[in-house]
Amino acid sequence: MRYRAFGRTDLQVSELGFGCGSVGGLLVRGTWREMVATVERAIALGVNYFDTASLYGEGRSEVNLGAVLRELGAEVLVGTKVRLTPAEMGHLHDAVLASAEASLKRLQMDCVDILHLHNPIHLHQDPDRSAVGLADLPPIVDAFQRLQAQGKIRWYGINGLGETAALHQAVATTGAHSIQTCYNLLNPSAGQPVPPGFPFQDYRDLIAQSTQRGLGVIAIRVLAGGALSGTVHRHPTAAPTVSPIATSTDYAQDVAQAQRFRPLVEEGYVASSVEAAIRFAISHAGVSTALVGVSSLDQLEQAADAVAKGPLPVAALTRLATLRKRDG
Ligand SMILES: NC(=O)c1ccc[n+]([C@@H]2O[C@H](COP(=O)([O-])OP(=O)(O)OC[C@H]3O[C@@H](n4cnc5c(N)ncnc54)[C@H](OP(=O)(O)O)[C@@H]3O)[C@@H](O)[C@H]2O)c1
Repeated sequence: MRYRAFGRTDLQVSELGFGCGSVGGLLVRGTWREMVATVERAIALGVNYFDTASLYGEGRSEVNLGAVLRELGAEVLVGTKVRLTPAEMGHLHDAVLASAEASLKRLQMDCVDILHLHNPIHLHQDPDRSAVGLADLPPIVDAFQRLQAQGKIRWYGINGLGETAALHQAVATTGAHSIQTCYNLLNPSAGQPVPPGFPFQDYRDLIAQSTQRGLGVIAIRVLAGGALSGTVHRHPTAAPTVSPIATSTDYAQDVAQAQRFRPLVEEGYVASSVEAAIRFAISHAGVSTALVGVSSLDQLEQAADAVAKGPLPVAALTRLATLRKRDG
């Protein structure tokens, strides 16, 4: 496993990060044995960043991750998130403090390495979409800084989801140390320019903007929630349905879109679609860690094998660019 600097923090994170969310679902719906065996193996493979949230399985992911790490006596980097509800929008500062305390209690930890804001960020607050507005950020950041001063979190971060203009402003003004950014073969706009008429949200190089400001970058949706594996079939432990983020309006369309990258496998650049997707994410030097949501030990092994092969070579990236152009 190779490690990358995490923005201006003192952290070194593994290129492969462990997603404890509901989509892969292992830390939410897995059996105790599967969870322990997979986390143990991930650590043996050198994975050192584990990403959870209060939202995942309504707290189950945090409870399970904390319990598994205690069982293993493991010391790894843990990030969790605060998701503010519409009812909390009127008292953001206190809501962040309360959420962090509840997360620490579920994890049974005194401190987490990173606490992220989970809500999307818009120019203006939009409770129907669970979005905070730019004007909401100062009390949220104030609460993060208080938690830092109390030694309950080491660093704080934002979600790179929401309105592009708002995200760029949030990166520039919040002093955040971390950002979770959607970056994958279907929507690479956070990491490279996309042509006019690009069908999905254009994040306008959010990764470069973030690294310039010293934020560590956590790539999410590296497999587009599983669609980049190229099949609509879902693992029994995985979420049975997935809502795409910044790609097509439904999962089946994302799976269909993923087929355009099959020539990378057929022409021998990579051994599988999953390998192509994961190696694409780590090909961006600005990505600190690429999270993969796993449903099984086997999927973890495949992700680690892909990362071990390193970034995609120039020839594969060039072929990728032609595959994009070919289909418009
Ligand atoms: N900040 C945010 O708002 C946010 C949003 C989303 C995710 N995240 C974080 O990112 C993590 C990653 O999750 P994600 O939602 O982005 O999903 P993802 O990693 O893009 O996709 C996960 C899915 O990929 C499939 N998969 C994984 N390995 C595979 C393999 N070797 N072969 C075939 N299929 C494989 C699995 O589906 P099947 O088992 O069905 O094949 C799994 O459910 C989350 O756990 C969370 O920590 C954060």
